[in-house]
Amino acid sequence: MALVDIAKETGDVDRTHGINQVLKHFKENKYTVNNVLDLFAGDGSFCSWLLYSLETKDGNLPNIDHLELDQELYDKLVDRFGRHRNNCYNVDSYKFIEDPSKLYDTVFCDNGMWDHEYFNVIPYLTDFFLGAKYFIHNINVRPYNGFKNNSVWGKNRSEFYGMKDTTDCDPEDLMEATYQRLKENNLDVNYGVFFPRELYNGHIYLYHVLWKIN
Ligand SMILES: C[S@@+](CC[C@H](N)C(=O)[O-])C[C@H]1O[C@@H](n2cnc3c(N)ncnc32)[C@H](O)[C@@H]1O
Repeated sequence: MALVDIAKETGDVDRTHGINQVLKHFKENKYTVNNVLDLFAGDGSFCSWLLYSLETKDGNLPNIDHLELDQELYDKLVDRFGRHRNNCYNVDSYKFIEDPSKLYDTVFCDNGMWDHEYFNVIPYLTDFFLGAKYFIHNINVRPYNGFKNNSVWGKNRSEFYGMKDTTDCDPEDLMEATYQRLKENNLDVNYGVFFPRELYNGHIYLYHVLWKIN
C-alpha cells in the first residue's frame, strides 16, 4: 500500500503504509517480540491488528494488551481481539502505565494529536520495559488544521522539543530532541529510525519512529 494523502482521500482508506514499513524492519533484522503493549488501540482496525504479524521466538502469536479509553471503540476492539482472551482494557493509558501489572518488551504508541502525543509516555517506559525493548510512536512534523505555536498543544510541543516554532519541522530534529528526552529518562538508546506514515496535501506530516533500546 502506498502512502495516502489524507487531505484528498477522506474515506475509508488503507493507512497501513507506515506500520508495514516498521514491520518489515522487524522482519529484516530478525527481531522477535513476546509481550506487546498497544497503548492507544482504537478499534484496532487502522494499524493495531498488524501487530499480530510480529514474530516471536517460539513461533506463537505475540501476547498483546490493547488499551482504549473510548467505550464504543473499546467494544469493537474486544470484538476484534478480545473475545477469547483477556487482553483488552477500557482504561486511560496514562493511568495504566503509572502502575502496570506486567512487563512488556515492545510498546506501540499510536498516539493521536493535540494533547495525546507520546511525550507523557516516555517517563514511564523505564519502569515497564523488559528484555529487548522496542518503542514505536508517531511524530507529527507539520500539524495541520490551523495549528498555532501559542495554543496549549503548541506550547507542549515547544517545551518537549525545545523549539519555539514547531509548525514545520524536519523529522531528524524532532528525533534528536526525542532522543534527548529518552536519555534524560535513563533509557539507553541503541538507535532510532523513522518511516513515512501519511501525507497531507502532498507533504509527509506524520512518521512512525522506532527506537531500539538496550
Ligand atoms: C490514532 S488512534 C489509534 C488507532 C489504532 N491504533 C488502530 O490501529 O486502529 C488513537 C486512539 O487513542 C485513544 N485515546 C486517546 N486518549 C486516550 C487515553 N488517555 N487512554 C486510552 N486511549 C486513548 C483514542 O480514543 C483513539 O482511539
